[in-house]
Amino acid sequence: MDNNPVYNASIIVTSELENELGKILSGYPEDKIFLVTEQNCDKYCVPIISQTPGFEYFKKVVIPSGEVHKKLSSVEKIWLFLSQNGADRKSLVINLGGGMLTDLGSFAASTMKRGMDFMNIPTTLLAQVDASVGGKTGFNFNGLKNEIGVINQPNTVLIDTRFLKTIDSQNFISGYAEMIKHGLINSPEHLEEVRNFDLINIDYELLRGIIARSVAIKDSFVLRDPTERNIRKALNFGHTIGHAFESFALESGYPILHGYAVAYGMIAELYLSHKVCNFPLSLLPIDDSR
Ligand SMILES: NC(=O)c1ccc[n+]([C@@H]2O[C@H](COP(=O)([O-])OP(=O)(O)OC[C@H]3O[C@@H](n4cnc5c(N)ncnc54)[C@H](O)[C@@H]3O)[C@@H](O)[C@H]2O)c1
Ligand SMILES: [Zn+2]
Repeated sequence: MDNNPVYNASIIVTSELENELGKILSGYPEDKIFLVTEQNCDKYCVPIISQTPGFEYFKKVVIPSGEVHKKLSSVEKIWLFLSQNGADRKSLVINLGGGMLTDLGSFAASTMKRGMDFMNIPTTLLAQVDASVGGKTGFNFNGLKNEIGVINQPNTVLIDTRFLKTIDSQNFISGYAEMIKHGLINSPEHLEEVRNFDLINIDYELLRGIIARSVAIKDSFVLRDPTERNIRKALNFGHTIGHAFESFALESGYPILHGYAVAYGMIAELYLSHKVCNFPLSLLPIDDSR
């Protein structure tokens, strides 16, 4: 018998989000669909899904935006909303937002009624290529990031690049760094296409294909090692030193976005690989002309 944990999240990268969502919703009673989102996404992203058949029956809760709200009181707000509106084991929770929201909503759904069906619709580049996939859920506690959480896979992750048209350039670049990471750990071809991507004049059609290939790399590592006992740790490339940068920047009063810290972390860790493990200097992404 195969004792590996069952892993069955389906990842759909699409330009026809409303159709795909409609198909999923047809498996649930129309009064059992619960939309969890946050303020910015309520403004920019909810209108994009509002053409979905059955949208008028959705029950919705809105959490304040930002990492500071990735906390227990926000989880409680979601639990209360679900409880007071008759959520049960036949219901579906839709998490619509960036990584903050998908981590939080996924945790709330995973722990409610001993585990409800939930799906993610990620709305930032970082959430589309990384946070919404892989089943890590949770919230910050006692001053520590992601201190409380469970690993539990969403039923589906629906990815549409239309959401990315309203995110600011810093958040875009933050997600871009995680795509660079996927290229570096797994695929020179992917690294090349990501590096060649025009960050000024963004081609959202082209981006859709690149995101699909990037998220497939993450998914392949998760599939082989869902609970991060061995090979999934490769996805943490750049993160050991990156987290140190992130914490230092935060404590110094000049916070930096996660992807920027990871980018600096990858450069530092590649340099260490050169010094300690003879990683070829010629492959380091540094300007050695000086
Ligand atoms: N579960 C995982 O495997 C995993 C992996 C990486 C990161 N994370 C988590 O993800 C979080 C970071 O995710 P993030 O970078 O998406 O941050 P975020 O969710 O806070 O979003 C960043 C900002 O963009 C706004 N926003 C989101 N979508 C928007 C849209 N379409 N248009 C306009 N504004 C929009 C948000 O309101 C917020 O202000 C962290 O909490 C981190 O711990 C989780
Ligand atoms: Zn990361």
